Amino acid sequence: MAKLKTILILTLLMAAVATLQAHLEEDMEEERMHPSFKEEKSGKILLMAREGEDTNEFWLNMGKEFVRQQQKQQQNTNVAKNVIMFLGDGMGLTTLVAARNYIDAEHTKLSFEEFPYIGLSKTYSVDKIVPDSATTATAYLCGVKANYGTIGVNAAILRDDCQAMKNSSNHVYSIAKWAMDEGKSAGFVTTTRVTHASPSGVYAHTADRDWESNADIEQVCGADHGLDDIAQQLIYGEVGSRLKVMMGGGKSAFIDKTLYSQGWRTDGRNLIEEYQKQSPKYQYVETKEQLEQLDFSQTERLLGVFNDGHLDYHLDSLANPENTQPTLEEMTKKAIEFMQLQKDKGYFLFIEGGRIDMGHHDTKARLALDETKEFSQAIAVAREMTSEEDTLIVVTSDHSHTFSVAGYQDRGSDIFSLVSNADDKLPYEPLSYANGEGYYKHFDVKNSKRVNPEEVLKGEANDVFPATVPLDSETHGGEDVGVFASGPWSHLFTGVYEQNAIPHMMAYAACVGEGLKACDSLSDGSMK
Ligand SMILES: *[C@@H]1O[C@H](CO)[C@@H](O)[C@H](O)[C@H]1NC(C)=O
Ligand SMILES: [Zn+2]
Repeated sequence: MAKLKTILILTLLMAAVATLQAHLEEDMEEERMHPSFKEEKSGKILLMAREGEDTNEFWLNMGKEFVRQQQKQQQNTNVAKNVIMFLGDGMGLTTLVAARNYIDAEHTKLSFEEFPYIGLSKTYSVDKIVPDSATTATAYLCGVKANYGTIGVNAAILRDDCQAMKNSSNHVYSIAKWAMDEGKSAGFVTTTRVTHASPSGVYAHTADRDWESNADIEQVCGADHGLDDIAQQLIYGEVGSRLKVMMGGGKSAFIDKTLYSQGWRTDGRNLIEEYQKQSPKYQYVETKEQLEQLDFSQTERLLGVFNDGHLDYHLDSLANPENTQPTLEEMTKKAIEFMQLQKDKGYFLFIEGGRIDMGHHDTKARLALDETKEFSQAIAVAREMTSEEDTLIVVTSDHSHTFSVAGYQDRGSDIFSLVSNADDKLPYEPLSYANGEGYYKHFDVKNSKRVNPEEVLKGEANDVFPATVPLDSETHGGEDVGVFASGPWSHLFTGVYEQNAIPHMMAYAACVGEGLKACDSLSDGSMK
């Protein structure tokens, strides 16, 4: 009997120890996943982004103020006379978080975060989970999802299908055309080549985003291809030839290489000269100064091409005393000024911050964040120059990147500052990528170890950030992107929807296109 008792007690004791041990393990597991930073601090917040964040009042007042603002919100059901669509190429949500901090330690809002209505856009293409800027331009401008690498054509056309391209029943048209067909002006501004994927979505139909000049098509389809390259479509196309504003970079795609040393064409043509010859009021400018001095009373159409290739990154322009390129903000201002002078029934403008994407592709986060800041400023200017009463502004992105904001940095610290320490006893950078060129600089492959990020990241514009998988060019990311809307019918843009729904919502608000229109469906049956 005594023996049995002992066994029972022993068993209970063992069970208790086991429970205790499990608890300890859980605690350790908890500590491993959500460290308490006990060694670093003694219950005191070292840095606070704003005075008062350690009080109740600060947060309670902020929350109440937000509710006050939200409940005052009135739905704007005016017809949108004007629509401005801003596209931050490759501007995923993590880019926004990091860009806020880049602008100033953590409490600055990007201009478009103040917009009243926000939604999420699903970006996949017909053939890929993670899309590119060509197929997404087709979705958010033409309202149809298509295949990777194609622009202004439906998914019946695969990339590089020279023959199928000729069948125009597979072509799809952008909201720029829908707007012009209703008597509005249309145009675009970009920091990339004017023939690059996103702006091409406004006016081009092509089975390959790379067919920017005739030489590019010939390489794939042979000499007798019978297709119009993107530059040609801008100058002569059904939509391109009616655009009032076209600004960006990319002179090379327009001129023969024997006529211009940086030219790409091989057909002996200079399409910019051909455009200018059509009318003395078809103005062409190449520098910021020429743009500023342009006499709008003598301008019917405006073509601004400010570089052979893409425009320089803003940080590179700043560092270049010879810079002659306008900023995105300056181009935006001029484009809106010009549109406002037109006697048409309003306008559609597409404005792209196109190099956020390219900064990320090179895992140069600082460039990407600075381009995001520039993009935000251009939107602020557009909002100042227009009225919410008659202008719908939609800000979105085509796709995300593999960009990550990670680690437990203290509030108020610079987003680039390193976090200490990883398991290899080296500090790590909170901004990194799932793949890309950054791998090569941050991993010492020969010795199977990480390079101390302090040796790579110098606080310079061209700093290369770490990446996990070695890849020459970092890839896009597949998560949804934000859509921020302000002005007439901006409340339509709430929810989670397919990317190709975006132009249909803009068309509804502006009463253009073939779908349902705001002006047809007023509740009292009257027409506005
Ligand atoms: C063009 O495409 C349409 C739709 O896919 C198809 O019905 C038609 O037969 C095609 N025409 C030619 C000439 O291939
Ligand atoms: Zn890209």
